[in-house]
Amino acid sequence: MAGTHGGGGLFQFVTIRLLPPMLRFETAGESHGECLIATLTGLPAGVPVSLEAVDRELWRRQQGYGRGGRMKIESDHAEIVAGVRHSHTIGAPIGILIHNRDWKNWSEALAVEDSGGAEDKRKPLTRPRPGHADLAGAIKYDFHDARYILERASARETAARVAAGALAKALLGEFGIAVLSHVVAVGSARLERPAEWDEIAALSRKGEILLGCVDAEAEARMKEVVDEAYRTGDTAGGVFEVVAHGVPPGLGSHAAWDGRLDGRLAQAIVSIQAVKGVEIGFAAEGAASFGSKVQDTIHYHREERRFTRGANRAGGLEGGITNGQDVVLRGFLKPISTLRRPLESVDLATREPALAAYERSDVCAVPAAGVVAEAMTALVLAQAFLEKFGGDSLRETRRNFLGYLEQVKSF
Ligand SMILES: Cc1cc2nc3c(=O)[nH]c(=O)nc-3n(C[C@H](O)[C@H](O)[C@H](O)COP(=O)(O)O)c2cc1C
Repeated sequence: MAGTHGGGGLFQFVTIRLLPPMLRFETAGESHGECLIATLTGLPAGVPVSLEAVDRELWRRQQGYGRGGRMKIESDHAEIVAGVRHSHTIGAPIGILIHNRDWKNWSEALAVEDSGGAEDKRKPLTRPRPGHADLAGAIKYDFHDARYILERASARETAARVAAGALAKALLGEFGIAVLSHVVAVGSARLERPAEWDEIAALSRKGEILLGCVDAEAEARMKEVVDEAYRTGDTAGGVFEVVAHGVPPGLGSHAAWDGRLDGRLAQAIVSIQAVKGVEIGFAAEGAASFGSKVQDTIHYHREERRFTRGANRAGGLEGGITNGQDVVLRGFLKPISTLRRPLESVDLATREPALAAYERSDVCAVPAAGVVAEAMTALVLAQAFLEKFGGDSLRETRRNFLGYLEQVKSF
């Protein structure tokens, strides 16, 4: 994607860097505002879109043992208002609204026009909660009430990401790529074995979600951790794993730091609220092992005329390029910051010590974070996919994709 400005050298280099990605998305909306908004620009025309499939993803994000009362109020529904007609994308920017059902209780606190009402009607938050954006954001944006900060920093925003991600999944699905997640740890309770793709797929079809673990015994231990957090007024974190299945080799690039898909996926995962670390493949285990035990050996299947690998410890990425194996990422969530038994803080008005504010809150959100991470992974993979195969229409993208598969076959 070279720039259209003439000249070469540094100027052209800068132009290339400033071009936006072919597929891009943004979200807007406050946690208790009228609605959340997502825009997604760059999907080719002709991608089939099912509102039911988008709502199913939104439902999955709302599930899990340990979610707060809000999840019972909100039953999210995506309203697509632009870019999709007669169940297909039309190549125009897509606009999605998700209404907040709680808005009626907040229309005064978060009114768009100031009608000069009493200060306390704004539901001010002056005792910032440790582990939230409250204090850093209040200082940065010069508010002595952290309400506007927490409204936007809240993970409620991730509903909009999930809706956009559902459309990225729809594109990827046309090419046999699926992105799903499962929970591998809640607190100290861990899944002690690898999960098979079929198990993860079966989990995603369930009508009831406890902690999103493929193993009932491990899930029961995870539940005990959440129960303990409930009993003690505390919260729990954990680890989710995202697996992208059916990914072709060759997405992303080793050639430039910002083209490396491992880096782009890591950024996408860590951008999720409360995710403090990411692991690609078996990174932590690998760092403690010798190289001979870590690298995935290379083999060749003559009849099928394709390369195979001894294992997938690299998580499907080598040199920042997909290698044709499943892409496997893990996200590490800190425990939820808002505690029923609040931590020490300071009142922004009086500067006196005070206990942090409490707002209705989740105790554990690891399965939901996994669903958000699926969306982020799907969006980044769809970006890399369109960078490689392009196309203004799905038919054109498919032609380019199939041509590349032929090339790979005869490599
Ligand atoms: C799906 C999901 C739900 C969350 N729910 C809550 C919640 O109910 N209460 C809370 O204090 N934090 C919750 N968080 C985490 C906060 O949004 C996050 O910790 C906070 O915005 C500060 O950002 P940081 O932890 O990334 O620094 C949730 C995170 C995710 C991914």
